[in-house]
Amino acid sequence: MREVGIGIAGFGTVGGGVLSILQRHARDIESRLGARIVVRRVAIRDPDKARPVELDPALLTTRFEDLLEDPSIEVVVELVGGVEQAFRLVQGALERGKHVVTANKALLAARGDDIFKLALEKGVDVYFEGAVCGGVPVIRTLREALASDRITALHGIVNGTTNYILTAMAEKGEPLSTALAEAQRLGYAEADPTLDVSGGDAAQKLCVLAQLAFGVRVKPADVLTEGILALTPEDFAWGEEFGYALKLLAIARRVSTPGQPDAVEARVHPAFIPAGSLLAGVRGAMNAVLLHSEALGPSMLIGQGAGAMPTGSAVVSDIIDLTRNVVASSPGRVPLPHGDARVGLLPHGEVRA
Ligand code: HSE
Repeated sequence: MREVGIGIAGFGTVGGGVLSILQRHARDIESRLGARIVVRRVAIRDPDKARPVELDPALLTTRFEDLLEDPSIEVVVELVGGVEQAFRLVQGALERGKHVVTANKALLAARGDDIFKLALEKGVDVYFEGAVCGGVPVIRTLREALASDRITALHGIVNGTTNYILTAMAEKGEPLSTALAEAQRLGYAEADPTLDVSGGDAAQKLCVLAQLAFGVRVKPADVLTEGILALTPEDFAWGEEFGYALKLLAIARRVSTPGQPDAVEARVHPAFIPAGSLLAGVRGAMNAVLLHSEALGPSMLIGQGAGAMPTGSAVVSDIIDLTRNVVASSPGRVPLPHGDARVGLLPHGEVRA
């Protein structure tokens, strides 16, 4: 049976989920693919850290270059997080003609242009389903299922940690710090949870979604961003009295003005939404994206947006897709374009009715 070698960089929460799924579902994956996915190396930063999954110690290395230098590794899976080190790894992999899977929204939001340009030059693929909404297949939906449609707006709950916190504050009256500690214990929060509570993580994810939905390059600095730290119990009580739920929403909308090119408005902030609405029913670490498109109308995706197994499942699906391309010697997907010159971006913070 044809073997496709992969190298995984990073063995934290998501890395543990990926390895666990690859081990548990190996037989099903093999029979679906007609090929075997073989983990050749796993690069880690700290060799003394406890690992969530048992692994042959001979596979572990602290040299990320080992993944790049090994010709039997055809797919590099980047789960390191952060931007600089992750970028060097992804760049090194693409330059050597290796395909890349990443779950790193910060990396895509900051260096997506360079990454997709290089991938295009080298004729290799970059898959990133795990970067937004954990296990919820929103990237595939935008790229593939709705490729025929024209998206007019997306409203998302795209950060599991803050949705977990807001649910606990609203339903149990818990203080933010207690709910955040629990979200960290459950593996939802970023290494630096400031990124979650400040809305920064949601803004990075919105950049990725907006590029797919509208073909416009959005950087985190373009997104009007307000987190949840200023919310108080009174806000929840007030909302409840008037029939509203409080959610951290990521919103991107196409704004059409006659005689002018379309523009995209992008923002992340807490919002009162009707208590009976679909997004108000999204609780705990669940994520959801409500899309409005011209042909389909409204549609919504919902599921676990953070944690080892949900995000791990998205990463493994990407590995399977890439392996299928490698085995079929197919070029697979065409990397993302830089942006649609016909669609602009509203100036930072400008909101139109
Ligand atoms: N910290 C992120 C969240 C992890 O809570 O949604 C998944 O991207």
